[in-house]
Amino acid sequence: MKTRFRLLLPLLLLASTRLPMAGSEPSQKPTYSRDPSSGLLMAPDWELVRNNCIMCHSMMIVVAQRGTRTRWERTLEWMRTQAGMPELSPDVAHRILRYLEVHQAPIAVGRRRPIPPDLMPPNPYASQ
Ligand code: HEC
Repeated sequence: MKTRFRLLLPLLLLASTRLPMAGSEPSQKPTYSRDPSSGLLMAPDWELVRNNCIMCHSMMIVVAQRGTRTRWERTLEWMRTQAGMPELSPDVAHRILRYLEVHQAPIAVGRRRPIPPDLMPPNPYASQ
């Protein structure tokens, strides 16, 4: 199980950095590569995020989440009050939140458009 995960993780990371995604960040933003170990984008303060969050869980559960500033504030509040994360200094908390707000922001989900009705097969359950 563990070995399989080790193989899968780099593939997932590779796919997530290569696939063009609808609603991905505007191109004028600097592009950062991903830390192969944590999965975090190596943007300013990424090590601060890693060092303060990795003591309890993989960074993949952070990388897999996206949210607004308010959502991340609530997440960190939960880590502190419910999971036992030590209190962060205001400066560290501010920098971590800024990182998460910018690099783990919500993105538009790239769903394809519905197939036009005239191209659909007949509905076998249609009553008429
Ligand atoms: C003291 C331990 C601890 C620390 C430090 C910690 N977490 Fe967590 N975190 C947890 C636990 C425990 C869970 C699992 C909660 C669950 O099972 O739903 C969790 C879950 C999460 C989740 C998933 C929540 C969800 O909705 O599924 C996110 C995102 C997260 N943590 C972010 C962070 C971030 C960001 C940091 C660093 C600023 C951090 N955590 C630091 C203990 C911690």
